[in-house]
Amino acid sequence: MGTSSRLQLQRTDFQWTGLREKDFEMDKFVIRGGNPLLGTIHVSGAKNSALPLMAAALLTDEQVILENIPQVRDIQTERNLLAAMGATVELGYGKAQHRTIIQCDKVLNPEASYELVKTMRASTLVLGPLVARFGRARVSLPGGCAIGARPIDLHIKGLERLGATMTVEHGYVEAKADRLRGGEIAFDKISVTGTEDLLMAATLADGDTIMQNCAREPEVVDLANLLIKMGANIEGAGTSTIRIKGVAKLHGAKHRIIPDRIEAGTFIVAGALNGGDLHVVGCDPSHLTVVLQKLEEVGVKITKTADGVRVQSEGSLKAADVATEEYPGFPTDMQAQFMALATQAEGTSIITENIFENRFMHAQEMLRMGANIKIEGRRAIVRGKTLLSGAAVLASDLRASASLVLAALVADGETIIDRVYHIDRGYEQIEEKLKGVGAQIRRIGELLPKRAGVVTKG
Ligand code: EPZ
Repeated sequence: MGTSSRLQLQRTDFQWTGLREKDFEMDKFVIRGGNPLLGTIHVSGAKNSALPLMAAALLTDEQVILENIPQVRDIQTERNLLAAMGATVELGYGKAQHRTIIQCDKVLNPEASYELVKTMRASTLVLGPLVARFGRARVSLPGGCAIGARPIDLHIKGLERLGATMTVEHGYVEAKADRLRGGEIAFDKISVTGTEDLLMAATLADGDTIMQNCAREPEVVDLANLLIKMGANIEGAGTSTIRIKGVAKLHGAKHRIIPDRIEAGTFIVAGALNGGDLHVVGCDPSHLTVVLQKLEEVGVKITKTADGVRVQSEGSLKAADVATEEYPGFPTDMQAQFMALATQAEGTSIITENIFENRFMHAQEMLRMGANIKIEGRRAIVRGKTLLSGAAVLASDLRASASLVLAALVADGETIIDRVYHIDRGYEQIEEKLKGVGAQIRRIGELLPKRAGVVTKG
């Protein structure tokens, strides 16, 4: 191994040898555009299901086994968060595994520190389970992120409705309750993790809880299915009204996480570029109805197969408008990816972002690649078809970075995407998966001087 202080290495040399993100100054992707994606690409388990379901293990002192866990950074963060509280968390990605076994029989410290929460706001999902099981919780306020302010007022109000005493000071929210009591909660706004947090809390409350204006995402249903396996009494998950009869105790369970509908949607859009013919397997098309219809409107051929979705494109695409809505509407997490597609469609596409206040960061980077995009408040007006040219671009958040990969796949020449640690949060080895269907993509990582030379292959 070279001894130069800054090694240019392929990340695959490491295969997770225990190196941590901070050992890499900044991973980059180098992508050469133009290749149609052909063949079969596999979808991993849903990150946004695994995160609440791992938190649900806090509700029992027995083992919870979750399968089909994606190998992404946010899962490692959640593992560290639970372990810091005293939970035992096994996490294995061996060939057949992708499994975690969690046991929270020795949780001594029901706290989520700023250090961990600032890297992943979904850490607030431990708030409800902690106060429900241990009577107290201290969780750092997540703060905003690239896409918006991301408050958790609905989580706090909901727990107050269940009898918790909530205090917010020094950047932390504290919850206390001898035992939560059932109540009525009507969410001012539809919140996915707000619904999930309160659903978990209500399972151990004394009495019945009715929650209205709930999120209806498949990940909420997946959480309810695990909780019911653990002994919870829940009706209505997946609708806007959920009824929970509190129980005294929950027991362990084993559950397989649903596939990641956003990863699947991202690959389906990738298959629509450059006249591809891609079979996206392991996804559930019923989780993507609106997205698939929109792609057909754009002129892409969609075929539902026994184990996923086949996407075929002749190359010419038509402009279409999109407005993000809560599930089952067009997902905000697919907005950036659709924008990349819209740059290749003939005509003007109007994209309206109704969920988050600042989720067009990817547009600035696409403009640098030659896209014709005008931002007017919550609307982006995309004029196509424009020939994109490869450029050095910067990832700002998880889905923005995915959209830049898509733009690079269709751009003329080479694109270098910096800060791809954002994409590693929610996409399992995306470069390997895309390479497997014909994309010209590789990852380069620079090691910090202190770590150079100590890495061994394999
Ligand atoms: C979940 O975030 C997802 N994350 C997000 O995915 C996704 O974009 C979002 O739902 C919307 O679908 C996980 O599931 C871990 P919200 P969440 O609460 O729950 C406002 C990704 O890319 N709000 O549904 O945090 C909020 O500001 C990530 O994988 C409040 O005002 O989103 C937003 O405008 C990004 N007060 C709206 O509600 C609150 O207490 C919807 O947010 C909570 C939310």
